[in-house]
Amino acid sequence: MKIHTIPKEKGSRRREIRQMKKVITYGSFDLFHEGHYNLLKRAKELGDYLIVGITTEQFDESRGKLNIVDSLIDRIEHVKETGFADLIIIEDHIGQKVEDIQKYGVDIFTLGSDWEGKYDYLKELCEVVYLERTKNVSSTMLRREKYPLIRLGMIGTGRIAARFAPETHFVSGIVLNSVYNPYRKQAEKFATRYGLELYSEEVTEFLEHIDAVYIASPHETHYAYAKQALLMGKHVLCEKPMTLKEEEARELFQIAEERKCVLLEAIKTAFCPGFQRLLSIAKSGTIGQICDVEACFTRLTGENTRERTDKEYGGSFLEFGSQTLLPIFKLMGTEYKEIRFDSICDKNGIDLYTKAYLSYENGMALSKSGVAVKSEGQLLIAGTKGYILAESPWWLTRSFEVRYEDPNKKDTYTAKFLGDGLRYEISDFVNMIHAGEYKSYKFTEEEAIAMAGVMEKFLQKRKENEKGGKRNEDMGT
Ligand code: CTP
Repeated sequence: MKIHTIPKEKGSRRREIRQMKKVITYGSFDLFHEGHYNLLKRAKELGDYLIVGITTEQFDESRGKLNIVDSLIDRIEHVKETGFADLIIIEDHIGQKVEDIQKYGVDIFTLGSDWEGKYDYLKELCEVVYLERTKNVSSTMLRREKYPLIRLGMIGTGRIAARFAPETHFVSGIVLNSVYNPYRKQAEKFATRYGLELYSEEVTEFLEHIDAVYIASPHETHYAYAKQALLMGKHVLCEKPMTLKEEEARELFQIAEERKCVLLEAIKTAFCPGFQRLLSIAKSGTIGQICDVEACFTRLTGENTRERTDKEYGGSFLEFGSQTLLPIFKLMGTEYKEIRFDSICDKNGIDLYTKAYLSYENGMALSKSGVAVKSEGQLLIAGTKGYILAESPWWLTRSFEVRYEDPNKKDTYTAKFLGDGLRYEISDFVNMIHAGEYKSYKFTEEEAIAMAGVMEKFLQKRKENEKGGKRNEDMGT
């Protein structure tokens, strides 16, 4: 008589797993290396069944681990290839470890010794074991070897430059090493204050010593600096507005493509995890078809500031218009039918408060910016089924609400926003350089060109109104 075995049913396999000694471990497992292999091997030896939690890019970003190189799919594949993992799960939020341990009935939680003590609080739920870390290897080290450090220089030493400099420390793979200012003393002062190696008042010489440049000089100088840097083969991260003419923006992107350089407009909100989330939810159909986007940004600035005194390039729209146009272009697109401006101007002709109305085939949008008029800085996205409200400071997107006809029904979303938020745009800039990827979906070339086009139209309107002697009144088309 032959003995046949009946294949086990799923239920009995589950029962079998339940009885096993289960071990869990977590990591990014980026640029998979020997240290990861050793850890997984020893983790598996601690029990019978190994669960490996792999972090998402968003989760890594939110906990400040920027510049992960491998995609989540690749990282999963590399862990799978070791053959040690019985189950691979995705880790995407804080507090998940506590949930997973209970959900999977974990007996042992383990991590490398670099985490010694950090997870002792889990001892209430299971055994916690720290395994000795393999010496002299880490993803950070490999990233450094694989990609030479990007030497970044900064043009300009103003307010935004001062906020930018410390943020560079949070992104690996890049080092801010120099600064340029046509006034040598200013450059020297900035370099001393932020511990930079070099400073210069001569732009060509300055550009020769770097791989990439961050342009934070006055608006009207962006184009010339960006062009020179790109022609010298340097990657460019340029403060907003990148240029004040559509044709100039087009030309810069053309040069960037020819020279194989990254050209990115530094609209920090575009790169923040929370804003990315808001956009995906807005586009997911939750609020139906998007019909109207209203974005407002006002900051009262002193009478003697550049915003209030520079007759040619000061004013609220040039200062904050890029910020408010960002969600408009992202959600309504760049193909508007018409744009119209209304401004309240100062005696010197500078706009203190500007509304830009955009009309689209299937909707409309409004941008409000102010330097001497204060309003509620909110972002409101109206759809056919509901609306999204992101309150001030929506540009540092930490939370937003989706609301519906029924006021009792509303969903609140929150997201991490670290530091000054500039680190997200710096991180994307670095990742693009490393990947040889010259297009950003977070802020596209098309959007940057359209943005420059709006600035150009606004300046033309302002000129026409000045010629016509209009002051302190409507600047509408
Ligand atoms: N690990 C290890 N030995 C190493 C590097 C990592 O045992 N030389 C362990 C970590 O302690 C952790 C797991 O591998 O338990 C996954 O770590 P991860 O943070 O993904 O790797 P690192 O190389 O430490 O990454 P990074 O340099 O980006 O921090």
